[in-house]
Amino acid sequence: MTAKINFMDVEEPGIAVITGASSGIGESFARILSSQGFDLVITARRKNRLESLAAELKQKHGINVEIITGDLSQPESLEEIASYIETINNLDVLVNNAGFGTTENFISKNSDINIFMKMINLHCGATARLMHAALKNMQNNDRGVIFNISSIASLILYGSREPMYHSTKAFVSAFTEMVQLKLNFIKSKVKLKSICPGNTHSEIWGESATAAPGKFGGPMHPEEVVDIALNSYKNRDIIVITGDHNIEEVVEWREVAYNKPGRYFSRDFSKTGFVKNK
Ligand SMILES: NC(=O)c1ccc[n+]([C@@H]2O[C@H](COP(=O)([O-])OP(=O)(O)OC[C@H]3O[C@@H](n4cnc5c(N)ncnc54)[C@H](OP(=O)(O)O)[C@@H]3O)[C@@H](O)[C@H]2O)c1
Repeated sequence: MTAKINFMDVEEPGIAVITGASSGIGESFARILSSQGFDLVITARRKNRLESLAAELKQKHGINVEIITGDLSQPESLEEIASYIETINNLDVLVNNAGFGTTENFISKNSDINIFMKMINLHCGATARLMHAALKNMQNNDRGVIFNISSIASLILYGSREPMYHSTKAFVSAFTEMVQLKLNFIKSKVKLKSICPGNTHSEIWGESATAAPGKFGGPMHPEEVVDIALNSYKNRDIIVITGDHNIEEVVEWREVAYNKPGRYFSRDFSKTGFVKNK
């Protein structure tokens, strides 16, 4: 039997767990990973979507697909999927993708605090809990990859944007980087990636699933985001910004932010000797 071609270049692809697989980027991960021979565990709240996707992918690729439905911002559902992940001995891939945006404004007196708490629970709590669950067997096997779907919002902080979305995604990128550094320190082969898309066509933008272009280009299609994520497996990058136009946006914001007085430094370090003489 010829080995299937897959992004990890392994003889026998194991299991991939994908959260938020009922649409958009998560659904694309499910389609692409199943075509590469990975068995899937897919989760989201919309059972009907998961069932029809599972039926299609089983039939097309002859792989096994398990479904777990539930709201990952709720402790019971989160524990159910976390405990299940801990039982998967041949876990190769975890995609922490479930997420949402909001038009609520944190500083508005009428804003609904429940939405922001749900966002913290989903983007930060569920990501951390499922990483912890997945790392057990991945470390035992010294193999596997976790893709945490963050955003370029994690790297750019504009006053005009909604603070909670940017800050929860900033947690995802920072935590991914810190945990990968910890794994590098013990010479583990397990890899972590914080995938940072810019505007991407999906239902996060509403029923029509149509995103507007970003400042320097785009929008992208979910499959392009997934391709970039999977290709990053072969390199050492931890923070993976999807596409040159998105890199341009992050770099422009960083240059402005770091050079603008009152944003990052209140002291002139060149006079205190903090900055080495050139
Ligand atoms: N599209 C963009 O422009 C863009 C850019 C940067 C980053 N991202 C990030 O990409 C990720 C995927 O989003 P997408 O763009 O593909 O949007 P999407 O099509 O709306 O997908 C979001 C997925 O998350 C699931 N989900 C949402 N809330 C959930 C909850 N409480 N519990 C369990 N599952 C939940 C949804 O499924 P159910 O509704 O069935 O539960 C759906 O499958 C998100 O983390 C998002 O922040 C998107």
